[in-house]
Amino acid sequence: MTPEPPDIVRAAYAELVVTDLAEARRFWVDLLGFVVSRDTRDALYLRGYDELTHHNLILRQGREPAAARLAYRVRTAADLDLAEAFFAALGSRTARVPAGGTPGVGETVRAEDPLGFTVEFFFDATYVERLQQRYDLRRGAEPARLDHFNIVVPDVRAAYEYYTSLGFGLSETIEDERNLYAAWMFRKQTVHDVAFTGGDGPRLHHLGFFAHESHQVLRICDILGSLHEEFLIERGPGRHGVSNAFYVYLRDPDGHRVEIYTSDYYTGDPGHPVLRWSVRDPRRRDFWGHPVVPSWYTEATAVLDLDGHPRSLLAEKQPAEVTVGADGFTK
Ligand SMILES: [Fe+2]
Repeated sequence: MTPEPPDIVRAAYAELVVTDLAEARRFWVDLLGFVVSRDTRDALYLRGYDELTHHNLILRQGREPAAARLAYRVRTAADLDLAEAFFAALGSRTARVPAGGTPGVGETVRAEDPLGFTVEFFFDATYVERLQQRYDLRRGAEPARLDHFNIVVPDVRAAYEYYTSLGFGLSETIEDERNLYAAWMFRKQTVHDVAFTGGDGPRLHHLGFFAHESHQVLRICDILGSLHEEFLIERGPGRHGVSNAFYVYLRDPDGHRVEIYTSDYYTGDPGHPVLRWSVRDPRRRDFWGHPVVPSWYTEATAVLDLDGHPRSLLAEKQPAEVTVGADGFTK
């Protein structure tokens, strides 16, 4: 029997390992415009301008770029017990981290999930100064809040089934008659909190941050062009077919991929209909039909286990989307 899952509110924050914290600070804070909530010798705690909890992103100094964990907020303190029992029943390693282990959040439960990612659940959070209308402070892309994690998994259907057991709803897919190539799943009432890209995994594909207006997506591109750092713009700007988001993908100095986007939609009604895209529809990844750069499909961030060691990769189990669809290249 499937154990009762914790009541997850939303994707809340991620911790990335960066190899040069000063360079990372320049990219994420000075250029993109993130707010610094806390600054320590070896880590930065960052948030968007709408965020009222302590942080959306931790950047931690380390030797190799990696994603250390993906954190979800749960609705009550009792959901921590449910999370621990849920993962124990799956045979996953878990750990309780007492309050004080991470600034800005209370006690947490961490687990190595069945997909190979270290996930974290927390309830208590420190609320911080409201900056939404401090237009005088805004810079760069004016990021508002973390929206979603996009993860690379060898078996998208297995990821879909696991996240369904964790209580997530399905908003959109890329598929054909035989295969599920990608899926977008939500707890909060938007298109997603997590999405799956098929490939060798587990790896983190990108972190998606919401901005309010399309000009903010364009402005960060202009800034990077002005600084002759256009090589940090990997893909876009463009309009996604899936999710309708107006997007750009950037790579930070360690290669971590970040999406700045606006214009997705509400999914909170019961029985929200799933939008299923054919893998042969050239509009699925870019509504205007622009090809996707190969690196976007093939490159991603390594993930760490509970002990902080890199996870080994499992090869993709299904046909790659790019060998089936209309992107015009093969891996
Ligand atoms: Fe995304």
